[in-house]
Amino acid sequence: MRRIESRPKPPAALRHCRDSKRSPQHAALQRQENMDLNSREECRIIDHTHGMPSDRSDNREARLRGRPAASNDARVLAGTKSIGDWMARILVAGGAGFLGANLVEEALRRGHAVTVLDRPGASSGLSAQARAQLKWVEGDFRDQDVTRTACTGQDLVFHLIGTTLPKSSNEDPQFDFLSNVSGTIRLLQAARQEGVRKLVFVSSGGTVYGIPTQLPIPETHPTDPISSYGIAKLAIEKYLAVFRAEHGLDYAILRVANPYGPHQSPERAQGAVAVFAWRALNRQPIEIWGDGSVIRDYIWVSDVIEAMMRAMDHGGHERLFNVGSGVGRTLNDIVRAIERVIGRRVDVSHAPARSVDVPANVLDISRARHILDWKPVVSFEEGIEQSIAAIRGSLG
Ligand SMILES: NC(=O)c1ccc[n+]([C@@H]2O[C@H](COP(=O)([O-])OP(=O)(O)OC[C@H]3O[C@@H](n4cnc5c(N)ncnc54)[C@H](O)[C@@H]3O)[C@@H](O)[C@H]2O)c1
Repeated sequence: MRRIESRPKPPAALRHCRDSKRSPQHAALQRQENMDLNSREECRIIDHTHGMPSDRSDNREARLRGRPAASNDARVLAGTKSIGDWMARILVAGGAGFLGANLVEEALRRGHAVTVLDRPGASSGLSAQARAQLKWVEGDFRDQDVTRTACTGQDLVFHLIGTTLPKSSNEDPQFDFLSNVSGTIRLLQAARQEGVRKLVFVSSGGTVYGIPTQLPIPETHPTDPISSYGIAKLAIEKYLAVFRAEHGLDYAILRVANPYGPHQSPERAQGAVAVFAWRALNRQPIEIWGDGSVIRDYIWVSDVIEAMMRAMDHGGHERLFNVGSGVGRTLNDIVRAIERVIGRRVDVSHAPARSVDVPANVLDISRARHILDWKPVVSFEEGIEQSIAAIRGSLG
């Protein structure tokens, strides 16, 4: 299995591009094409559903009875019953990841037919029961054949694929751009060609605004990201607007703050709560970059998933929503909360602060409250308790 976090090495046939007099842009394009060629061989479809269960085996027209015929015209959602009233066919791109696995479980609970698009071998903490109800398309989303296959027959797409992390994205902005932005354009093209009605994109409330001039940060705040990761998210947001204007592909964008909860890997180095709690329970020191005063907006993952489901249903003209708790906590607050739950002090060591970390980020969530009728319901204290309990359970 080829890991795509690392920069792919061109095969000998294309390696001359590096040394030739061709422009770096040209070489990058050839590398991109080459990545696509390689990944094409890796597309595999695994349908655990063996077709749909009997109540889902009706054809597309019958399923859509009572609503306008599916089309990629954004107007179909306006003034109709919400999608939540139907069993929808949903593609979760990145469904093996942290947010993806939580979304898949919730979508299945609500009776939707779910397909996951993720890399071959991507590990997922999904239960066997959930897996048995899924169709999987294994492949790289930068491959047009893979995205076309995954989008075929879908009503909705949730785009949760991310190939980089905020902290490391500046080390290779070209990879960040080619994988995330260029890959997403492929996904949008496939969605449009296959008649998908709407795409919900998880953007980053923690990075697109850059260093805030006000807290909490409303959606109208200037966007000046200080990481390639944030720039890529913002570029994708802009492409969504273009695809809607040009092709009628409807969309919603959720600028998610700092989610935590089940399926978050403590090994991934994104998600302070999971990493800190796991280390504390394993009696390992917690490493904090800086003095621990960095402020973030932590939100329990099921609250984020609820916002996604509401954004999927929403047919109004507003398409951009902050999703957070609206409350700022420091890294030191997390350590103290963990200590309270486990009943002992934990070792903390400090490393130099990182340049990609904005000093504070707290989102103004009033737009989602009013327009999506959504609010976070799990308190920080409850979330920390549940996180500790889940990690204890996994440790046996
Ligand atoms: N977790 C957070 O703190 C957070 C906050 C805001 C926004 N986001 C964004 O939300 C999305 C989901 O986040 P997450 O924490 O679930 O990430 P994750 O890494 O757990 O999941 C991403 C999934 O995308 C898959 N993927 C990566 N490259 C791929 C490729 N080329 N082709 C196919 N699949 C590929 C991975 O295998 C993984 O399963 C990401 O775009 C992330 O940037 C995350």
